[in-house]
Amino acid sequence: MSGRIPRDFIDDLIARSDIVEIVDSRVPLKKAGRNHQACCPFHSEKSPSFTVSQDKQFYHCFGCGAHGNVISFLMEFDRLEFPEAIEELAQYHSVDVPREKGAAPPLSKEQRQQKDNDYELMEKVAKYFAMQLKTHAQKDKAIDYLKNRGLSGQIVKAFDMGFAPPDWDSVLKTFGTSPEAQRQLLELKLITENDNRRRFDFFRDRIMFPIRDKRGRVIGFGGRVLEDGGPKYLNSPETRIFHKGHELYGFYQAKQAHRNLAKVVIVEGYMDVVALGQFGIDYAVASLGTATTPEHIQMLFRATSEIICCYDGDRAGREAAWRALENALPFLKDGVQMKFLFLPDGEDPDTLVRQIGKDAFEQKLTEQAAPLSKFFFDNLLQRHSISSNEGKAALKSEASPLIEQVLGDNIRQSLFSDLSNHLGEQNRFKLETDIAKANQATGPKKLDYNRPNKSTLSPVRMMIRVLLDQPSIASACPTANPGPLTASAIPGIEMLNQVYQYCLSQPAANTANVLEHFRGHPHEKHLSKLLAWEYPEQHLEAVFEDCFTKLLDWHLQGRMDELFAKSRQGNPLTEAEKQELNMLIKEQN
Ligand code: UTP
Ligand code: MN
Repeated sequence: MSGRIPRDFIDDLIARSDIVEIVDSRVPLKKAGRNHQACCPFHSEKSPSFTVSQDKQFYHCFGCGAHGNVISFLMEFDRLEFPEAIEELAQYHSVDVPREKGAAPPLSKEQRQQKDNDYELMEKVAKYFAMQLKTHAQKDKAIDYLKNRGLSGQIVKAFDMGFAPPDWDSVLKTFGTSPEAQRQLLELKLITENDNRRRFDFFRDRIMFPIRDKRGRVIGFGGRVLEDGGPKYLNSPETRIFHKGHELYGFYQAKQAHRNLAKVVIVEGYMDVVALGQFGIDYAVASLGTATTPEHIQMLFRATSEIICCYDGDRAGREAAWRALENALPFLKDGVQMKFLFLPDGEDPDTLVRQIGKDAFEQKLTEQAAPLSKFFFDNLLQRHSISSNEGKAALKSEASPLIEQVLGDNIRQSLFSDLSNHLGEQNRFKLETDIAKANQATGPKKLDYNRPNKSTLSPVRMMIRVLLDQPSIASACPTANPGPLTASAIPGIEMLNQVYQYCLSQPAANTANVLEHFRGHPHEKHLSKLLAWEYPEQHLEAVFEDCFTKLLDWHLQGRMDELFAKSRQGNPLTEAEKQELNMLIKEQN
């Protein structure tokens, strides 16, 4: 792993970049008033609601809520990880990305060289296995196996499938021609060493499935036995280039087949991916003998807005699906969908697609897959009977924290609403949401972003909103420093203080810098929500100071109440407390 990229460098990079230029080179923009617009690249729409602000160096879609700074845009649009987006932007400005020394030192030249060598060797071994299907003395049994499974030559080639010969040392002899080469084979787990220090091939007499990362590099293998005996599948163990929880078999091929992946089907096995591919369902992926991890879900939702989990209908399949669901909740933003299709007993996608064909299979995917909410409640209601109050309470206490994790407001809201239906609490739920809305005063949950919202934010939120818009306000209003109020119970005061202190320390920061500072921070979600809230243009300094005055009043009032309460309960106030109370009363008048 490489070292951290210094903050200053990232801030500087954002400051040099013009988001309008970067977006425009990928999604042509039209000027509309002070902003630029286009049809949103992140959801399908006919009239443009994707807006880029040059002043704030920020984009926002009024339709789907996508938003962020130039780095977020590159991450979402080019589907890059954070450091890759930085690299991309740095390259655009022809500068090198510096790396901090520390826990994770940057890759040395030698290490980078070694990684390149690793990928190169894996590719060569994949080619070697593929070649054995054509040349090995026992190739016929492998070819017969593939034929019996109904695989076409074309699909075998498309997935670069191969044959690991039934010998002990084919790979070892072919590639391990020097001690260094053998060490590399050992490290990449292509050969193994036993207790007697004898070395031999890891994969023997197996049908081979090369596993590619999302950039197409071979990083590991899966191997299936031809006849019964031994474990059915062997997978490459973890190595310095192979991390199972981060990779999905077939993802690279699916991305190659579709520039924009409308949906992705998650299946259980290698064979399922390949068989579906053969039938033209070329958007299936499989996890590699592990559960579906949060990393998998995150990776998929960067590339598509619909995931269909297609599992066995048996207990194991349903458990795997439930685990995938749990891992997906924090990534369910509004506008994405996750569905679940359970197959009849004894079938898997491989056998089923061969039986019913492409169209019927796709019809199942679109018509029979259950939406997440259905699977979610079906599963919970199986475990908790709502005919008793105890059952209801148990349902509520299991469901609520799960629903709480959902990222998208609309999805979360709708799951909570379903939950209260099941609990028979519709009226109470409605009342609670109405109260929450009134308290929040940020307008209805489903924001109509086009129209500036006339309602008001709480003073804390308003101050944060103003800071986000114009970070220099912090230095312009040094007396409105929320620092001393952080001990008070005012909701959100800690977040306000953190934003304020950042803005104070970085007087030249713009909106994009502030957002960048809070990327991945627990406040990030709240900040983006506030940014989506439009308000009439006003004299921002005055607004900021007025809000601060309100906070001070609340704080003082709160402290007074506290002191009064103490004395009412019969606890004598200390001399200092009496003085303080006197002072507070004077301040109030
Ligand atoms: P399955 O047992 O469902 O096999 O394993 P399959 O995919 O239908 O394979 P075929 O049709 O019999 O060839 C599903 C997945 O679980 C992992 C593999 O990733 C496999 O694709 N697995 C299974 C293992 O890692 N090891 C095993 O021994 C079995
Ligand atoms: Mn199968």
